[in-house]
Amino acid sequence: MDFVKLGEDVDKDNYLIADFYIETDDILKNAGELAKESSNGTWTPLKTAKGYTSNLSAFVFYAKELYEIEGNKAAYIKVAYPIELFEDNSVPQVLSDIAGNILGMKIIPKARLFDIEIPQRYIKTFKGPKFGIEGVRKYMRTDKTRRPHVGTIVKPKVGLNPEDTATISYESWYGGCDFVKDDENLTNQRFCPFEDRVIKVLDALDRAESETGEKKLYAPNITGVDMTERAQFVKDHGGACIMVDILVAGFSKVQEIRDQGFDMIIHGHRAMHAAITRYERHGISMPVLSLLSRLSGIDQMHIGTVVGKMEGELTEVLKNKEKIVSDLFGMNPCFPVNSGGLHPGHIPEIVQFMGDDTIIQAGGGIHGHPDGTIKGATAMRQAVDAVMEGVSLQEYAKTHKELKKALEKWQ
Ligand code: 3PG
Repeated sequence: MDFVKLGEDVDKDNYLIADFYIETDDILKNAGELAKESSNGTWTPLKTAKGYTSNLSAFVFYAKELYEIEGNKAAYIKVAYPIELFEDNSVPQVLSDIAGNILGMKIIPKARLFDIEIPQRYIKTFKGPKFGIEGVRKYMRTDKTRRPHVGTIVKPKVGLNPEDTATISYESWYGGCDFVKDDENLTNQRFCPFEDRVIKVLDALDRAESETGEKKLYAPNITGVDMTERAQFVKDHGGACIMVDILVAGFSKVQEIRDQGFDMIIHGHRAMHAAITRYERHGISMPVLSLLSRLSGIDQMHIGTVVGKMEGELTEVLKNKEKIVSDLFGMNPCFPVNSGGLHPGHIPEIVQFMGDDTIIQAGGGIHGHPDGTIKGATAMRQAVDAVMEGVSLQEYAKTHKELKKALEKWQ
């Protein structure tokens, strides 16, 4: 078995290609060990290997030394994984191969999986987003206007009871939000039991829809040990959307929910991603996790903001976006979500780099408005309207006092 075949032509229809950054003292030798450990080998030759198991060997076909760092050499390598290695429709199993043991090998102190390319044959085994951008837009009746959606996260993120959560949700929708979601750390705590909250917030949604004449969406966070039951509860009470903390819950749970066919929009929050993605010399990049989230069936996906409170450069956010919206053998694109420290003043810049197909969410940027939630939501919506009309926020604010107050507070 040869785990290093530099320059070998790789048939991209039959191999998954993984790109790694590594730091190690011997690039080729240890890159070969990485390919071996992540496919059919281990640290020592095996008496149990059969002739036919060699078909599943991964191999390094490209390596480029970059520089010396902390006594090691840094390099980019590309590894080809035969597609037969992977279980159909299983993000967890892919990760166990290409980001499993290998990220903890002593001989490679740093290793980062920064990109993957997956052949059509394997992509086709995944369902992907059921709704995607067009499905969500159709549901929300914005398929003609094509404007960005405005969302909010009920704040304070934890502590409110179901009644207050429902009131704040109603005010958000009434003021102009399309979308209301639970925060990432609100699930089924005693202070706000899931079922009570879902019933009350969905009642508030009905009221907001009939009073505004607009479609509204609520994403209760179903993350927990009984996600199927929680999703069923939302469905039984007329909900159209659920939220999952993708990485906290795990891709298998996300895929299970998608495959159970609830016919509800799945909103994906990436809480905990930074533990995996943030350190640029190790871990897994956010673009890779974005792509895997799309495969697993997420319809609305958090990808960063550039301008808000969370870390994330423009180039990375654009790569995340590309992974979830670009052509992928006919798989639906996810609706990109920008969230974290946003307020109305950020909207022009976000639309400039994201385009109109985006969901812009503000928690503090709505519920921290000087005149409260309704005016805060109105200000967000006014900022979107200004951008869609090609008018600067400052100009628009002259005749829209909610936006004016928001800009005075935050800009
Ligand atoms: C999120 O889930 O993205 C954050 O909780 C957003 O909240 P913020 O708008 O107040 O930063």
